[in-house]
Amino acid sequence: MHQFKLAEEQSSSELQVDCAGVSIGRVPIIREVTFNAHAGEFTAIIGPSGSGKTTLLKAMTGELAYSGSIRLAGLETGKLSAEYLARLRGVLPQASQISFPLNVSEVVGLGVIDRRRGRDGRTRRIADALAKVGLHGFEGRSYQELSGGEQQRVQLARVLCQVWEPVAADGQPRWLFLDEPVSSLDIKHQFQIMRLAAGYAAAGGGVVAVMHDLNLTAAFADRILVMKNGKRLTFGVRDDVMRADLLSDAYDFPLALTRFGDSNVPLVVPAPGSAQ
Ligand SMILES: Nc1ncnc2c1ncn2[C@@H]1O[C@H](COP(=O)(O)OP(=O)(O)O)[C@@H](O)[C@H]1O
Ligand SMILES: [Mg+2]
Repeated sequence: MHQFKLAEEQSSSELQVDCAGVSIGRVPIIREVTFNAHAGEFTAIIGPSGSGKTTLLKAMTGELAYSGSIRLAGLETGKLSAEYLARLRGVLPQASQISFPLNVSEVVGLGVIDRRRGRDGRTRRIADALAKVGLHGFEGRSYQELSGGEQQRVQLARVLCQVWEPVAADGQPRWLFLDEPVSSLDIKHQFQIMRLAAGYAAAGGGVVAVMHDLNLTAAFADRILVMKNGKRLTFGVRDDVMRADLLSDAYDFPLALTRFGDSNVPLVVPAPGSAQ
């Protein structure tokens, strides 16, 4: 009985991906991917362009049909209603195009799904979310007229509004699924957003992020899934995955690892001679 409860509690704070596959039309895009992510940790998904990172993320968030099993909080995501999913996880897509004129406050407000907050609560939540992403006071600006990096941060503020508490009142962790959340940001804002995401995990939430930048991944990820050709190449804790041979194979390019000063964080660089 006690053991059963323990197992149940554990699965409720995990994302369990078991032999997951995704086909678009008849073409298999993702095959046999297995890994677990834990609430309280930052899990990164890396791999070359076209390796299936976005497709896998969409399967995990309930946007694409999949074979195998993908469970969030012990529940098969493909069977959950959109409303239930919206309370459990927020999703930052790789590209968010909005083709009608909205101001920033309206875009961020799309994430405020708790109607009990009332108008003042809603306004405050939007302001707090914008401050968190470094866009304090941007409420009245036109979304269309912002830079790509600013739009990306507005979208993140929207997602944060949706799953504000890393651990909700019911004791269940909430999840952030982020597809290249910092790829169009300058270095200061890249670190700001990575710290924000890592802080969400440190507070007990789950974070799963597709990452382009290997050094930001090394600096912030607890565990890393490496994708190649639609399959899992490897999965493990940061230091087991951040290896020159493994990354060179993943990206089909000679890479070397170094460290900066006395830092524990590995730094990935092109292998000597790559520029010749
Ligand atoms: N809607 C789609 N129709 C056909 N092929 C797709 C579709 N979406 C993605 N793909 C293909 O699936 C592969 C993986 O794409 P994606 O998941 O976007 O990769 P990544 O995010 O790793 O760059 C690519 O070869 C891509 O062309
Ligand atoms: Mg992608």
